[in-house]
This record gives sequence, C-alpha cells and structure tokens, in this order.
Amino acid sequence: THRLAVLISGTGSNLQAILDAIDAGELPARVSLVLSNKAGAAGLARAERAGVPAQAIDHRGFPDRASFDQAMIERIDAHGADTVVLAGFMRILSPGFVRHYQGRLINIHPSLLPKYPGLNTHARALEAGDREHGCSLHFVTDELDGGPLIAQARFPVAANDTAETLSEKVQAREHRLYPQVLRWRAQQRLQMTDQGVELDGERLPAQGFQ
Ligand code: GAR
Repeated sequence: THRLAVLISGTGSNLQAILDAIDAGELPARVSLVLSNKAGAAGLARAERAGVPAQAIDHRGFPDRASFDQAMIERIDAHGADTVVLAGFMRILSPGFVRHYQGRLINIHPSLLPKYPGLNTHARALEAGDREHGCSLHFVTDELDGGPLIAQARFPVAANDTAETLSEKVQAREHRLYPQVLRWRAQQRLQMTDQGVELDGERLPAQGFQ
C-alpha cells in the first residue's frame, strides 16, 4: 500500500479528509505517520482516533532548521513514506529536506498560486479585489510555494465574503482536492518530471480542476 506521511501544525482538517477518504475506500493508501511541530495540535488527536502513529517534534528543541529537518527525516523514514503530505504545516523546509523527498513531497496552499505565496492569503485576495479565489496543490521545490502545480480549485468571491468565509470556502475545496490528488499518487499515475507534472504520462494543465 502507498504510504503517506502527513505533516501538520494545527487543526488537521485536511488530515481528517485524507483519513476519511481512506476509511471510505476512496484512497488506496495508509497514513504511516502524522508528525506535528506543535505538541498540542488538534490534528494529533485526529490521528490517534484513527489509530495512526502520531508524534510531535518541537522545533524549538533544535539549534537550527537543518537539524530539526534531519530529525523529521529520520522519523518519517523510520515509518516509510511514498508521499510526504504537507497539510497545514507552517514551517519553511530546508533545501536538504526538500531534496531528500524530491518528487514525493506535496503541499496544499490556500490561494490560487502563483498569487499570494506565504501567509494571510484570504485577506490579501480581498484587499486586491480579486473576483476569484481558491486553493492549489503543488510539488514542493526550493522556491517557497513555488513548485509545479498539480491541481487548483477556484470559486467566485462574493461581495459579502470576509477572510473567514473565504477560509471556509477554500477549506471545503481542499478537503475534496487533497484526497483526489493523493489517489493519483497512490495509483502511481502522478509524477513530477523535469518538464513539470505528469498525470498518466501527460503533462498536467495547472488549471481547470474543480
Ligand atoms: C489549510 O487551509 C492549508 O491550505 C493552509 O493551512 C490550512 C490548514 O488547515 N496551509 C498554509 O497556509 C500553508 N502555508 P488544517 O490544519 O485544518 O488542514
């Protein structure tokens, strides 16, 4: 079975969507490890409830980013991971970590990349007067939120949307899109190549997913 290591920092609603999809038989994979850099993260309890190994690893206990990332690598590889899933993991990863999982490291980001890498994406979309907003899944490279796109979900921004309602709308899309993309990975249909992203050997268009 395709093994997923899921990295979180907080609520873990995307983790929950992944666990539910596995439970429902919609995602032929198993979660080998949930790793959080925050000890109290609600996502850890979700993992435990699902009977999945869950660990916290506090970055503050390490002298620098590289040694924290090395400790994460050791834990992830001890459990085995065919795909490393960033699901609300809120720390920047070192080049060594990204290189180690090159081509099997996927992130979800709450904006229509390349718009709004980084934080506060919903407020920034509102401030810019954007008429649409959404989320993006991408393979991770050294460039922050800049790796090749796998899929996006987009929706129109309503006149009365706030950062909070946008966040809810984005998350509803995220919870559908992440299991779908991970299903492609589990079926060995989705790869990162030098050219970009391929699904079934065809270059993936970055857009047009719902
Ligand atoms: C998600 O909306 C995800 O897109 C975002 O954090 C949220 C985590 O929610 N990720 C980032 O902002 C990455 N920089 P969750 O913990 O409930 O899955």
